[in-house]
Amino acid sequence: MNVQPSFDQINRRAWNSRDALREFTRDKTWTDPGEEAAFAWCESECHDQPLLDIGIGAGRTIPLMKQISSDYTGIDYTASLLDEARARFPDTTLHQMDARDMSALPSSHYALTAFSWNGIDCVSYEDRVLILKEMFRVTRPGGLVLFSSHNRDGPGFRENIWTLMPRFTFNPLRYGWRTLRTMRVLPLSSYNYVRHSRFHRNHEGYSIKTASAHYFGILIVYTTLIEQRRQLASLGFMPGVAFSCSDGHCIGDAVQTDDAWWLHFVARKPPAA
Ligand SMILES: C[S@@+](CC[C@H](N)C(=O)[O-])C[C@H]1O[C@@H](n2cnc3c(N)ncnc32)[C@H](O)[C@@H]1O
Repeated sequence: MNVQPSFDQINRRAWNSRDALREFTRDKTWTDPGEEAAFAWCESECHDQPLLDIGIGAGRTIPLMKQISSDYTGIDYTASLLDEARARFPDTTLHQMDARDMSALPSSHYALTAFSWNGIDCVSYEDRVLILKEMFRVTRPGGLVLFSSHNRDGPGFRENIWTLMPRFTFNPLRYGWRTLRTMRVLPLSSYNYVRHSRFHRNHEGYSIKTASAHYFGILIVYTTLIEQRRQLASLGFMPGVAFSCSDGHCIGDAVQTDDAWWLHFVARKPPAA
């Protein structure tokens, strides 16, 4: 069965929700130590160079990436989030664009092309390939591509509706607060979980599953360190580095990644011959 149209519709509905706007406009800097480490790894060679930021949402990464270079371009396909980003960060080059087709952007131009906070997981696996090919095209030879992706070996993959139940504590106030929070999110989350779990699929190196974000309102691709490295190599990228979201450590080949909800990948486009 082709789940493609529904996959896209489900996630677009989530990006247009009030919950997404609230989440993306919360005062935040780095999502996790791995993101900070991945950008730090790229910083010196991308300093003052052209940067492309894909899936900017309400603009969390704009000030972070502009610290690396003022030659910054951001894109997102969700008009409401882009409007918010424009209002928060005037004088920033922002375009409404789908990452699957960035033909309006020049080839071989950007020193760093980033798609942060697992945005690339929010399209089907076939479309993920289109996006990675587009990221390859717009990046200059020798330049870097950075993105994060949910880890199928990590704790997030085991999330389900029971994960929302209040964790027990002997502190009655805290337990009461947790119970109230569960009661608030449970109805919509259960409804969405049941609706979206019919799209769950397991494949050789990746799975499709709903995630608790936006009340189980999104479908995402979970992949593995090995599969992601294989995919990047098959698309022509040189071997790169990966960082764990939990501690920001660089991940070697034989390392367990089962404590990381997601992983940050940095890959390099081969330099011109
Ligand atoms: C998880 S949010 C991250 C937002 C922002 N990068 C941040 O870190 O706060 C994913 C963002 O990617 C955007 N997005 C998802 N798929 C996209 C696509 N195919 N093309 C462009 N933007 C996309 C969504 O609209 C959403 O704003």
